[in-house]
Amino acid sequence: MVTSDRETGPDHGRQKGGTVWKNLSKYTPIFFFLALSGIIFLLRNIHTLEKLNCQTVSTLYQFQSSIHSAFTPEEQPPVDHNRSYCGHLGLEPSAEEALEQRYLLESIAWPEPQPRLTPRPLRQTSDPAHSLFAILPGGGGREWHVGDQLEALVHMHDFQGRPKRHGGDFLLARLHSPELGAGVAGQVLDHRNGLYSAVFPLLWEGSVRVEVTLVHPSEAVAVLRRLREEHPDRVFFKSLFRSGFLSETTVCNLCLPTTRQPLCNYTDPHTGEPWYCYKPKLLSCDTRINHAKGGYQKHLLTNKESLLFQSGVNIKVRVHASGSDSVIVQPEKKDKPERESSSVRAEPIRVTPSGYYFQGSWRALGGVAMHQFNDSSAITQCLKGKVVYMYGDSTARQWFEYLNAFVPELKEFNLHSPRNVGPFMAVDSTHNILLRYRCHGPPIRFSTVIASEMRYVANELDGLAGGPDTVVVLSVWAHFSTFPVEVYIRRLRHIRRAVMRLQDRAPGTLIVVRSANLQALDPEVSLYNSDWFSIQLDGVLRAMFRGLDVLLVDAWEMTLAHHLPHALHPPPVIVKNMIDTILSYVCPEKS
Ligand SMILES: *[C@@H]1O[C@H](CO)[C@@H](O)[C@H](O)[C@H]1NC(C)=O
Ligand SMILES: *[C@@H]1O[C@H](CO)[C@@H](O)[C@H](O)[C@H]1NC(C)=O
Ligand SMILES: *[C@@H]1O[C@H](CO)[C@@H](O)[C@H](O)[C@H]1NC(C)=O
Repeated sequence: MVTSDRETGPDHGRQKGGTVWKNLSKYTPIFFFLALSGIIFLLRNIHTLEKLNCQTVSTLYQFQSSIHSAFTPEEQPPVDHNRSYCGHLGLEPSAEEALEQRYLLESIAWPEPQPRLTPRPLRQTSDPAHSLFAILPGGGGREWHVGDQLEALVHMHDFQGRPKRHGGDFLLARLHSPELGAGVAGQVLDHRNGLYSAVFPLLWEGSVRVEVTLVHPSEAVAVLRRLREEHPDRVFFKSLFRSGFLSETTVCNLCLPTTRQPLCNYTDPHTGEPWYCYKPKLLSCDTRINHAKGGYQKHLLTNKESLLFQSGVNIKVRVHASGSDSVIVQPEKKDKPERESSSVRAEPIRVTPSGYYFQGSWRALGGVAMHQFNDSSAITQCLKGKVVYMYGDSTARQWFEYLNAFVPELKEFNLHSPRNVGPFMAVDSTHNILLRYRCHGPPIRFSTVIASEMRYVANELDGLAGGPDTVVVLSVWAHFSTFPVEVYIRRLRHIRRAVMRLQDRAPGTLIVVRSANLQALDPEVSLYNSDWFSIQLDGVLRAMFRGLDVLLVDAWEMTLAHHLPHALHPPPVIVKNMIDTILSYVCPEKS
């Protein structure tokens, strides 16, 4: 089965949901009255229910529950302006964990504008149209060779053309040669005075072009930071509870204000991962049937703040070059004299991307020797006798879908799973290949996951035998962007421990971890799924798996270096390159 990626992207459902709530809101009083009378009816007749005709009663309650679930989220978005209440739920970290957490949070620290929380008028915020970059050294005259580094200096200005004096803008940089199908991610350094360096390794000959993009001005990043702290529940969830003829839907989240009404505590006994739902009025907590995305809180920004999120103005807009944006790169020099640094930094840095595109193919630098799996038979040959477990969000599911569609011998086994949700399984019994996909646990933002299928990745890994014929693929990032980073750190810590246990008891088990990727942003998506949230999570993920015997598939650089537009679900050509990377790791070429 090949399913469309667009279906379950967090955005799709949100837009749909938004219209539904809007249309329903004018009927809310009627619905409320209907629901109330239903509840009164129910309470009065609770004893006689069993004697009624089944059909009528279940129809009545289905109707009631649909009314209930339609207005519940709007009636009780659990707004709580308590900055840290999420951090208080769940187990306290141990001293060692707290230390690691502090180190991780420091490693992703983002410059804050001074003074913090003073909203500036738009005209004083960073404007990509007034900003410029220049390739160093100015004036040209320098020769460039493969193996050198290229640096561009970015000067940020505000809407009045005045230079910015502080850092914190979120910039992306890429170096590319369209005619060669070549591209590489640049590294951006914030000098915290309105200047930024974009540094690139020169990896191929020919004309190369620098591209600099402002993702968000620093002032918008400050708003995103505020949302993450004050509205960790801006995406909320719901669960259906049902027993016999009774059903009820309540709001759920990683953390819910404990003062409002009784909670059901679904904290995972093995990992200690917290999860809560408001307790249904008439049903017990163990009648939970499913888990689903509830909706998105709206009206999170002031009018002034909204100006910081305008498509075509200050969300993912190119910064232009003051002179030429290109240089010609000559072949590598045989004798390499120490070069003078033309950098504004005292200490020149070496940038080491994880790979680059050349003729459209990803070439990993270090680690895996890449080869291409253009024929399905090459994939079959590689995966022969193997079990591949894929866990995570829809970006892991994309890999399952790619292999399932591309390799004709793999037949999907019908598990009667909901579309786009899973779990999924594909089998090639001739070559003894088994491919499985399962989504990660809450806060998964999928449409509807049956409660019994809600599993934490760490617990699933603890249930695997593992061994040299087992490949485990993990992609856990997209559904954590609305929460404080601590929540993600805790989740990855549990997964990392389970990975280490698995590799200890079953040496040779191959583990692949996928990083976050860039996505298409508009004013709305930015508030829930901005690349700024992703880059913060991604920094944590890299640090936490560094030094472990795992393959990191650098989806961040693979989407940044590519010429195709950013998308939550990267296009097939990028997915193909990711699959090539994984298979090159699983089946290293014998030479
Ligand atoms: C925030 O929530 C925590 C835990 O529920 C509580 O201890 C603290 O007093 C709250 N702070 C504020 C400012 O309400
Ligand atoms: C939920 O259960 C866990 C584990 O049993 C416990 O540590 C936690 O304090 C409970 N949460 C609340 C809000 O009672
Ligand atoms: C695979 O396809 C790409 C793109 O068409 C091509 O450049 C490459 O040479 C092919 N590799 C192999 C091993 O066939």
